[in-house]
Amino acid sequence: MPDLSLNDLDDHVRSVLEEIARLSTIDELVEREPTLLGKRSELQQLQRSLGSLELDERKTAGAAIQEARRTLEDALAKKRAVLAKDERAKALERDRLDLGDVVVTNVVLPLSTGHEGAITLTQRALEDVFVGMGFTVSEGPEVESDWYNFEALNIPPAHPARGLWDTFYVDLGSPETVLLRTHTSPTQVRLMESAVSQNALPIHSVMPGRCYRRDTPDARHLSTFHQIEGLVVDRGITFGDLAGIIETFTKAYFGPAIESRLRPGYFPFTEPSAEFEITCTICGGKGCRTCSQTGWIELGGCGMLDPAVLLAVGIDPDEWGGFAFGFGIDRCAQMRHEIGDLRALIENDARFLRQFS
Ligand code: DAH
Repeated sequence: MPDLSLNDLDDHVRSVLEEIARLSTIDELVEREPTLLGKRSELQQLQRSLGSLELDERKTAGAAIQEARRTLEDALAKKRAVLAKDERAKALERDRLDLGDVVVTNVVLPLSTGHEGAITLTQRALEDVFVGMGFTVSEGPEVESDWYNFEALNIPPAHPARGLWDTFYVDLGSPETVLLRTHTSPTQVRLMESAVSQNALPIHSVMPGRCYRRDTPDARHLSTFHQIEGLVVDRGITFGDLAGIIETFTKAYFGPAIESRLRPGYFPFTEPSAEFEITCTICGGKGCRTCSQTGWIELGGCGMLDPAVLLAVGIDPDEWGGFAFGFGIDRCAQMRHEIGDLRALIENDARFLRQFS
């Protein structure tokens, strides 16, 4: 005889339902299923015992057992669905935590963000100084025509002054007509042209940018370098205005201890022309290897606009005059940050770069 009798079928169903409710994992459910409802269950034994009953009794008992089985099957199916859902949620949670670990790894080994380099920072600082003095900032192309880079600046073909600039020519059009600009001075020409066409004189502007020369790099020269050009076109401008701007800039950018001086020089586009020097910041003017014992470092050139340049862009030199200057941004960075060798600026040594973050 089975342990279970038809009389306590309801009690049995209730207690199996409680057991099903207590199952906490799918594994447990799979393990317990045969004894709760399957072949080894009490319900199954009861079913087998029905054969000994009369037909009528068997029918009623069979229906009751069927009913009990459906109830339990239903409860097991629902429990299985709930447990499966729970377990999936737990697995997802574990994966999410794995992801969390990756984030934690990033905190341990932080990915450092980049920052602007010494040249960009220097260019910005120089722009700020000139903007503070009322200048605007303009830019021009790095690939130029011979006309803007040379001819309009009063440097005709075969002029010996072309030897001052060792030029990279671009293989485009007729030979030696397209080039990488050797200085930022062609941007002055472009600016004057557009001011004339827009009737927008006077001009007070600085023009920073990259330039190229066929120079062999050394401690004070790079074949790709940066200049900042300055241009003032106005009425009644004197050499005193130029000297005043240079001196004001020097003090604002390098500090009160640094002096500027102008020495006579030669540039085809200015007359008179001067070379612009500042106290060597490395030795404070006493004389050292960097300044060849002179106490002065040359930053660039300047001068009063040559009437030929004004005429080349259609400006009347009897009404308008002005001055221009151009100097090395890299050289300014070198002086300001005491960089012994300019090549450090392009070598991308992280220890050098990190100093400017
Ligand atoms: N362009 C000259 C150079 O690269 C520097 C220069 C000199 C610019 C005199 C000027 C200037 O505007 O007036 O050597």
